[in-house]
Amino acid sequence: MNKPSATDIIIFGALGDLSQRKLLPSLYDLEKDQLLPENSRIICLARRSIDSREYRKLTSKHLESHIEKDRFEQQTLARFLARISYIQLDFLKREGYPQLQRQLAEQPAQQRIFYYATAAEFFGTISKNLHRKQCLTAECRVVLEKPLGFDRESSSVINEEVAQYFNERQIYRIDHYLGKETVQNLLALRFANPIFGSQWNQNHISHIEITIAESIGIEGRWSYFDKAGQMRDMVQNHLLQLLALVAMDPPDDLSADTIRDQKVKILRQLKPISAAEQKKSVVCGQYDSGNNEVELLPGYNSEPDAQGISKTETFVAIRAEINNWRWAGVPFYLRAGKRMKRKQTQIVIHFKQQAYFIFDQDQQNLGGNKLILSLQPNEGVALQVQTKSPGINNDIQIQATELDLNFSQEFKDTRTPHAYERLLFEVIKGNQYLFVRRDEIEHAWAWCDNIMQHWSSSEHILHKYPAGSSGPTESEMIIRNDNRQWSGDS
Ligand code: BG6
Repeated sequence: MNKPSATDIIIFGALGDLSQRKLLPSLYDLEKDQLLPENSRIICLARRSIDSREYRKLTSKHLESHIEKDRFEQQTLARFLARISYIQLDFLKREGYPQLQRQLAEQPAQQRIFYYATAAEFFGTISKNLHRKQCLTAECRVVLEKPLGFDRESSSVINEEVAQYFNERQIYRIDHYLGKETVQNLLALRFANPIFGSQWNQNHISHIEITIAESIGIEGRWSYFDKAGQMRDMVQNHLLQLLALVAMDPPDDLSADTIRDQKVKILRQLKPISAAEQKKSVVCGQYDSGNNEVELLPGYNSEPDAQGISKTETFVAIRAEINNWRWAGVPFYLRAGKRMKRKQTQIVIHFKQQAYFIFDQDQQNLGGNKLILSLQPNEGVALQVQTKSPGINNDIQIQATELDLNFSQEFKDTRTPHAYERLLFEVIKGNQYLFVRRDEIEHAWAWCDNIMQHWSSSEHILHKYPAGSSGPTESEMIIRNDNRQWSGDS
């Protein structure tokens, strides 16, 4: 691998939650592992009137609480803070940009990465201002945070605005799920293991579940979340990215566009869900007050920052299908919910049952093999196989057993990097394969828009579920109609 050259990382929205909780701690972790190129600088921009010294002090406090205890050390911190400077800047006004321009000009040969950790509505104006002040170079890169728009149309407007100043090769659209270890392992598992590669289709797989269950609610982000809802916040991006990676055809190589071409094909082939099909294929819910194991949790409309009675969904379950040869007749059951019983993100691939069964016929319904890819809380892969119950019974009794690979136990001495850490490093290296291309985003929006357009009708029902539960009981119906049930319980 070529060593990346000295880089200026310019963060817009540097006092925001994302910067303080994820970006700066991830950059610190890169510093700790000596992965930040020598002479790299981190230029932080936000509206608040403070100077670099105050900003560093504030950041150092945040870092201390967000970095794993055994990774925090004063020497690394000092090295890291020395790279940081702060400029007060209102993104929409031109005033702060000359100072940024001067600072960048001090090191004209540095590679430049602009990270827009702001609301997407500002992306166009920031790009224009950077262009006017000659801050952009032919090789510079821009990182765009989600959510990119509200629907296909608004996302397309934002993409178009940014495209006036950056070409697609320079644009890195973040979906932090792509930085998770198991997501990348999915590629290894599917394409380096003939045992799975050869079975990955409708001849051998009966159905696939993808669940993203969060135990947290909306964490003080009610005003953002209430406009977005779970479909825009989690399904349009994270969940559909997981689906695309599970379902895509094998890419010919690992280059960014080869992989993204395959993902786009899947997003295009997702079968639209008509108004008539919504009743049996889509269930929306909103959490009410309820108990987790520790305390009584407020309902969505009683969250401390709630502003009235809302009909925004905090849970979505969808029965999706893909119109292609590989997946014809294989349902994909998708679920994403907040304030669920526990945090659990997993993909479960259900293989078809044995066509002819020679053991006790009563046990035939034990099911086929299951491949379980766990992303959270623990990363790992498990394969459920049928084995004989131990003992000297006359009959061979079959039982389901797991071959379990837990990454943190198996690779005890290797630390798993956080998603943002990996993604930031990929931007520095200039590798786009873990970032989302414009056409992917727009196809994903189109499929979601088609579903959401029916939600204003009187037919649309928002089912309540208690906080700390497995979501609305109606979501069982989506899978039970096909004589199946969700794996595990979230
Ligand atoms: C973010 C959403 O993109 O992902 C949040 O905006 C959500 O609402 C978060 O909580 C979940 O990320 P993770 O990595 O904790 O599953």
